[in-house]
Amino acid sequence: MATRSTFLTDELNDYITARFSSETDELRVLNTEAEAEGIPAISISPEQINFLQMMLHSISARNVLEIGSLAGYSAIAMARALPHDGKLYACEFLPAHAAFIRRKVSQLGLDSVITVLEGAALDTVSVLFDSTDIVFDAVFIDADKPNYSAYLDLVLPRVRRGGLVIGDNALAWGEVARSATTTFEPHNVQALDAFNTRMSTHPQLLSTLVPLGDGMVVGIKVA
Ligand SMILES: C[S@@+](CC[C@H](N)C(=O)[O-])C[C@H]1O[C@@H](n2cnc3c(N)ncnc32)[C@H](O)[C@@H]1O
Repeated sequence: MATRSTFLTDELNDYITARFSSETDELRVLNTEAEAEGIPAISISPEQINFLQMMLHSISARNVLEIGSLAGYSAIAMARALPHDGKLYACEFLPAHAAFIRRKVSQLGLDSVITVLEGAALDTVSVLFDSTDIVFDAVFIDADKPNYSAYLDLVLPRVRRGGLVIGDNALAWGEVARSATTTFEPHNVQALDAFNTRMSTHPQLLSTLVPLGDGMVVGIKVA
């Protein structure tokens, strides 16, 4: 029995991507068009969308909240894992990104599934909660790192028992284990480290960190 995990080399990562990717042509085209419009290439990776879709199927998710949507790559990938009457709220701060997502959602016939909430997510999600009693099966957090823990506190009461909270960049670009000494975006690295700690110790969550892409911390609401 192995007592240490296998170190993930580039070769092994390529192996995983080659076999466990859910990237479709519509998502490839989306990323190409987004880049052409000057939207940065910082979406999650193809093997991460595969993982997200698997997680959503495993809990029969219907209602999903995404915080940080960029050009809609992960939002559209998750929407494709929902039933026809599923609903995904995509929170995006930047107007140009939000406009791109809305255009793409219409082109792909997903208007009835994806709603874009434009603005700072702490505000837009609070307004959503004030105006509806919606409960989520899953929340994917991939926005401004210093607010990750605040997002968790805000959304957890609206996640059903057995639902998921997933945060991207849990490995903080490889810096998370040296968060006290890193010189690479220390405020972001420290915020991600604090979020991982909160997810791993939260009394209502059973969590783990999955080292796909830049790492995803996944918690299931157990209480
Ligand atoms: C890493 S990208 C998201 C990538 C996306 N999840 C994907 O994989 O396709 C982060 C996004 O979060 C957005 N963002 C940053 N701060 C935000 C905030 N306070 N509220 C909502 N969105 C925010 C940024 O504008 C950016 O588009």
